[in-house]
Amino acid sequence: MKEKILQLIYNSEGYLSGQQISESLGISRQAVNKAVKGLRDKGFEIESATNKGYKLISLPVDLCAESINLHLKTKFVGRNIRLLDTVGSTNDYLKALAEKGAEAGTVVLSREQTSGKGRLGRSWMSKRDETISMSILLRPDMMPSEIASITPLAGLAMCRAVNDFCMLDSRIKWPNDIIVGRKKLVGILTEMASQPDKVEYTVTGIGINVSNTSFPDEIAHKATSILLETGRHIDRNKFVATALNYLEQEIVQNRYRLGGEAVAEYQRLCATIGRQVTFARGKRNVSGMAVSVSNNGELGVMLSNGTVVTVNAGEVTVQGIY
Ligand code: BTN
Repeated sequence: MKEKILQLIYNSEGYLSGQQISESLGISRQAVNKAVKGLRDKGFEIESATNKGYKLISLPVDLCAESINLHLKTKFVGRNIRLLDTVGSTNDYLKALAEKGAEAGTVVLSREQTSGKGRLGRSWMSKRDETISMSILLRPDMMPSEIASITPLAGLAMCRAVNDFCMLDSRIKWPNDIIVGRKKLVGILTEMASQPDKVEYTVTGIGINVSNTSFPDEIAHKATSILLETGRHIDRNKFVATALNYLEQEIVQNRYRLGGEAVAEYQRLCATIGRQVTFARGKRNVSGMAVSVSNNGELGVMLSNGTVVTVNAGEVTVQGIY
């Protein structure tokens, strides 16, 4: 009910009377008052004037499920949001919900992570309110071998969200980083649970550096934030909704696969292609020119003898980036 009342107040140009709200939703005036109080407690500034009614003055600064919902255009992604104050890892928390049957599209967000996880067993720093930490549950009807498409589709969605919402020119560093210039802004980690021939669920965790002003020495040369790049504080709820809107669009339009159009778009946005890269093959480091990304998200690298080899996981160093 709170969300319906918020939507009415948000859409109304001037004041909206308590009477109008209670009539259009078929609830009592007391119920309206109670819901407005609840919204104020969540950080919505709502003015009330005698004989005029309610007017929305400003939206919450901190992460807030009701505020995200206000800007969501999705059918299922983000329709069930669990917002936490602190957690070890949003991916782990969501995997536990998935095991108990949480529906596809469920999102877990936390203001802080105490043991955020990165790729390749690394840790991911998520200090309170500096970063956005979110995880999205999907239940795609696919084989375990096909899930390599999920991270690139999430990458496309995040690249679009960053570029549209923050007016930045972000690119994808294969396979799962969103970078601005030479520095990382967003990291993505997809995990899955499956039977031998069927994926049960995937959890895609996305970490976004929002208002960090500095980074630890080890990563300072290769990490950045939206604040550092734009000099502005963003409405993080609107940003999360924009990202979820793009994510649903990518997965629905492409049916969870990195098909023709999506792979072309990925290649267009991929900063790795056209650069010299170095990666590990067995015990050796191999270098070549990144030339393509395939339908299953593999990087094609042309070696000096002209042969193209595929790289599907692990660490790739890109000359001129990191
Ligand atoms: C990487 O770049 O190595 C991936 C980083 C992924 C970080 C996100 S933050 C939300 C989610 N929860 C985690 O523990 N990790 C992912």
